[in-house]
Amino acid sequence: MVRRPAKPEDGGVNNSSGSTPLNLADYERAAAELLPIMSYDYFASGSGDQVTLRRNREAFERLTLRYRVMRGVGEPDTSVELLGRRHALPIVIAPTAFMRLAHPFGELSVAEAARDAGVTQTLSTLSSVSLEDVARTSDAPKWFQLYVLRDRELTASLVRRAEAAGYEAIMVTVDAPVLGTREADVRNRFSLPGGVEPANLADELRNLRASGEASGLQQYFSTNVDPTLTWADIDWVRSITSLPVLVKGVMRGDDASEAIEHGVAGVIVSNHGGRQLDGAPATIEVIREVASAVAGRVPVLVDGGVRRGVDVVRALALGADAVLIGRPVLWALTVGGREGVTNMLELLRSELVQALALCGCRSLADVTADLLGPVEP
Ligand SMILES: Cc1cc2nc3c(=O)[nH]c(=O)nc-3n(C[C@H](O)[C@H](O)[C@H](O)COP(=O)(O)O)c2cc1C
Repeated sequence: MVRRPAKPEDGGVNNSSGSTPLNLADYERAAAELLPIMSYDYFASGSGDQVTLRRNREAFERLTLRYRVMRGVGEPDTSVELLGRRHALPIVIAPTAFMRLAHPFGELSVAEAARDAGVTQTLSTLSSVSLEDVARTSDAPKWFQLYVLRDRELTASLVRRAEAAGYEAIMVTVDAPVLGTREADVRNRFSLPGGVEPANLADELRNLRASGEASGLQQYFSTNVDPTLTWADIDWVRSITSLPVLVKGVMRGDDASEAIEHGVAGVIVSNHGGRQLDGAPATIEVIREVASAVAGRVPVLVDGGVRRGVDVVRALALGADAVLIGRPVLWALTVGGREGVTNMLELLRSELVQALALCGCRSLADVTADLLGPVEP
């Protein structure tokens, strides 16, 4: 069952030691104490030996920044233009499934916090609140993440519904022809508790239960998600919507170029938070290759292990236009619902402002490649 946060109204003071989270890692520690093990493991795990999951963080920590001084930074401007819209921060909420495992209001609370922070939320195909209900809660910009399902009519109806509800982009996840094995989910025989379900999907697809010795999600995924996708399917998605189509899960320059040839409006460098191919590089290690292939034709976003404001600066210095954050949203939602997510986003915003100031950057345009320092061996 979903355990209710001890103090849903208080996004700050809620961990066992009673201290206010000072950073995103504090939110994870506090959430670990509150969540049932099945949900915690589902959120936290990577696939296989979790090498890529760890590497996502370690690669950030190895990157140093050669900051500039005496640049009259004042209060740096953190805004960025993406898909024709000015965003207050170069930070987008990544799609993560089943947020009601973290908090009874799930995606609705995240929508409210995102709106308050001026941050775009990407809603998962597998959200536990319907895309229409999320749209009704907040008129802030939202993107819809699409898993292309074996059932193309159902897939097309998701896209049409997202467009009708006011979502501003379709983000097609391309790194999951099959679901990576998260062994903790297998051990726990992961399944959804009563009341939590993939709310966007037709009634007959809603039930996600473990049967036999496996994770219920893995079974659900292999039954419903199409493992035969090719670039032609991006053409198909583009043909059924007038919204910009982004691809999420690209890790190579040649794939990014191919995506652009198929008309995508943006590329998300992602290894799915270390949950798909274990053995993939950290995303931060491939941004430069992808950004140089894209050569400014469309925005390049990146996710995986962004936990500090300085990580945002690192990603931008490597050539990204913005980052997405996945798990920190789940931890903050667990700890404090809407307030928790609001506080977490404010922590990240203020860390970013400080990192920009300390790097001598007055705006994101000043975050250039020459800021990157020597890499630790
Ligand atoms: C619990 C969980 C569920 C996720 N669900 C989805 C999903 O439904 N669709 C998708 O494209 N990516 C999904 N992802 C991947 C995230 O969008 C994102 O790529 C990843 O979490 C970024 O890494 P980070 O968690 O280190 O920030 C999920 C990730 C987690 C941790």
